[in-house]
Amino acid sequence: MTSPLALLGGPPVIAEAAPHFSWPPLTEATSIAILDQLDEGISIYDRSGVIARLEDALQHYFGARYAIVTSSGTAALYSMYAACGIGPGDEVIVPAYTFFATATPLLHLGATPVLGDCDTSGNLDPADVPRRLTERTKAIVVTHMWGIPAQIRRLKAVADAHGVLLLEDASHAHGASIGEQKLGTFGRAAAFSMNGPKPLSAGEGGFIITDDEEVYHRVLLHGQYNKRCRNEIPAHFSLSRYAVTGMGLKHRIHPLAAALALRFPRFLGGL
Ligand SMILES: Cc1ncc(COP(=O)(O)O)c(C=O)c1O
Repeated sequence: MTSPLALLGGPPVIAEAAPHFSWPPLTEATSIAILDQLDEGISIYDRSGVIARLEDALQHYFGARYAIVTSSGTAALYSMYAACGIGPGDEVIVPAYTFFATATPLLHLGATPVLGDCDTSGNLDPADVPRRLTERTKAIVVTHMWGIPAQIRRLKAVADAHGVLLLEDASHAHGASIGEQKLGTFGRAAAFSMNGPKPLSAGEGGFIITDDEEVYHRVLLHGQYNKRCRNEIPAHFSLSRYAVTGMGLKHRIHPLAAALALRFPRFLGGL
């Protein structure tokens, strides 16, 4: 038996009102985790409590030396770029097809985003990058759009051959890998979003991973100022005298958002 399409006035197959699917999945266990966090603390000034548990879990998951959680993916990108020394006059090659926040934090640093063409996967085309390079190029940023890996090894080879940094905006690619190697571990550092629909969601949040100690300390200065910097940045680090004020901006995640992210067992080992 046939009936007219719902579009044409027939009965809809799904009678329930939208939305039919929501992300992140919120269960009773999520509510308990949030209530527990309300009891445990909602202002965390250093790397302790739920912040330490989430960063430890991310470090373990990615096999990275450092993970720093932030208030958003945009904040993670900003901190990563600043920590990698990107500044006035620098050019940074970014994919022409990406979310705008891959590029916009660069403008706050006085750098110029240079748009590179994308290949048929929708990611930065390694064949296009060489013609975008100039003596001002400081970095190449790769987005793995919709979780599809970019040609990251070819892009790394281009970056290495020209002595520029390779950085990843892995905001769509939590859990994606090439062979055994997880996306986000190919460059000097990677930034991730944990905004609403992302595979690992905190509602709002982000993080940076890196193996580089100098980048780590600089990321702390660009968003985690005062107590955390004073606790973690060693006196011999050249910028340690700025630990109290940092570089003037605060990008800390809310502890309730961190507690939400920790409810994602697939990524974080069942925590
Ligand atoms: C590729 C990409 N980069 C960066 C961001 C910015 O992340 P956030 O919204 O957490 O600031 C997004 C957000 O959708 C994104 O899709």
